[in-house]
Amino acid sequence: MKPRLLPVRLYGDNILRTKLSECDVNDPALHEFISDLSFTMYERDGVGLAANQVGSHFRVFVIDPDWAREDIEPNPIVMINPVIESREGEADNEEGCISLPGIFANVHRAVKISYSYTDPQGNRIQETAEGFKAVVIQHEYDHLEGFVFTDRVGTLAKLRLKRRLNEIAATAVDGINIMEGFPDD
Ligand code: NI
Repeated sequence: MKPRLLPVRLYGDNILRTKLSECDVNDPALHEFISDLSFTMYERDGVGLAANQVGSHFRVFVIDPDWAREDIEPNPIVMINPVIESREGEADNEEGCISLPGIFANVHRAVKISYSYTDPQGNRIQETAEGFKAVVIQHEYDHLEGFVFTDRVGTLAKLRLKRRLNEIAATAVDGINIMEGFPDD
């Protein structure tokens, strides 16, 4: 089946504040969803996308940290029921998010992490990552826990971002905030 472009949920949507529960790796609907999720991430030029950002409750995200570099073929890594097991070191990196358009801020995160997840074939994988890949995993993992990156910025930065965040949240209707098309649509 042809993958579908899923509508992106924006800051102010309740589902971005929902902690997602573990999902059944054998659920056929999960596998269909994963293909839509990956397709949507590339269409929206993201290096990561979590299920609740497109309105789903599956505890899964997809990343492709190398996608930002040109001349690289897509290499989506799907992480089902991920767990971050340890974190080492600290660094600030500028982050952005498809659900928070126009917002960028420095976020304090671990430099190196160890984590586990189930891949789409059903294997439980145990790995470590550092640098940009570790940042992307921590960002997407936060989404599954109901957090967005601006929750992790300092008080002063929060104050600076407040007006723009309120602008984005203002389009929510009954706790749902669906992005109405992209500038390039
Ligand atoms: Ni994000």
